[in-house]
Amino acid sequence: MDDPVFAWMLPTLPARRRRLALFFSNVLRHEAPGVHLIDVARVGERIVGGAVWYPPPGRYVPKLGRQLLALPGYAAVLRGRLGMAQTYVNSALRAHPSEPHWYLQYVGVDPEFQRQGIGAALISFRVHGCDADSQAAYLESSNAKNLALYTRLGFQPTGLLALPSGAPEVTTMWRPPA
Ligand SMILES: CC(C)(COP(=O)(O)OP(=O)(O)OC[C@H]1O[C@@H](n2cnc3c(N)ncnc32)[C@H](O)[C@@H]1OP(=O)(O)O)[C@@H](O)C(=O)NCCC(=O)NCCS
Repeated sequence: MDDPVFAWMLPTLPARRRRLALFFSNVLRHEAPGVHLIDVARVGERIVGGAVWYPPPGRYVPKLGRQLLALPGYAAVLRGRLGMAQTYVNSALRAHPSEPHWYLQYVGVDPEFQRQGIGAALISFRVHGCDADSQAAYLESSNAKNLALYTRLGFQPTGLLALPSGAPEVTTMWRPPA
């Protein structure tokens, strides 16, 4: 809800909550199956966090069939903001490293469970696997508040996405295998 990029794309608050729920259900139902790998954190039976990764080669090229399935959902969520979202995606694609890597596309922890180490555990799980396989990882940080966490996990800032004026700063971060 308070992510600077989603706040920029969907500025109206009550609509943002409902539309973000639709956005992420569209990611999970239509875009991710067979393409992404999703790690979840559980407390008992409850899923309290998730990380959506795109495995190597990591340069995210949406599959046409998946794009067709996902497009109506994205259009319903973003409506007049679809062009803005496309500008964001194009800039992210241009900045994407060409070297093979794991791409952390989304990560989130239930607000009730934040600041307890769950986000760090979720990301560490996958990046330790990267270390074991000598693979790199990459992410775009849409919130400056998260930079310290990512830096502690071994990601280093490499630049900023080229976005239109008025857009928040989005830092690209690369993690070489340890
Ligand atoms: C980013 C996010 C996934 C981090 O998840 P999290 O579970 O809160 O992460 P952690 O608890 O591992 O670390 C967060 C902070 O809590 C601190 N922390 C961890 N355990 C703690 C504890 N037991 N007591 C107090 N603080 C603690 C960490 O040191 C870290 O501090 P820092 O931000 O100053 O470096 C979560 O804040 C989130 O879902 N945010 C909204 C969505 C989002 O921003 N997604 C990423 C977009 S780039």
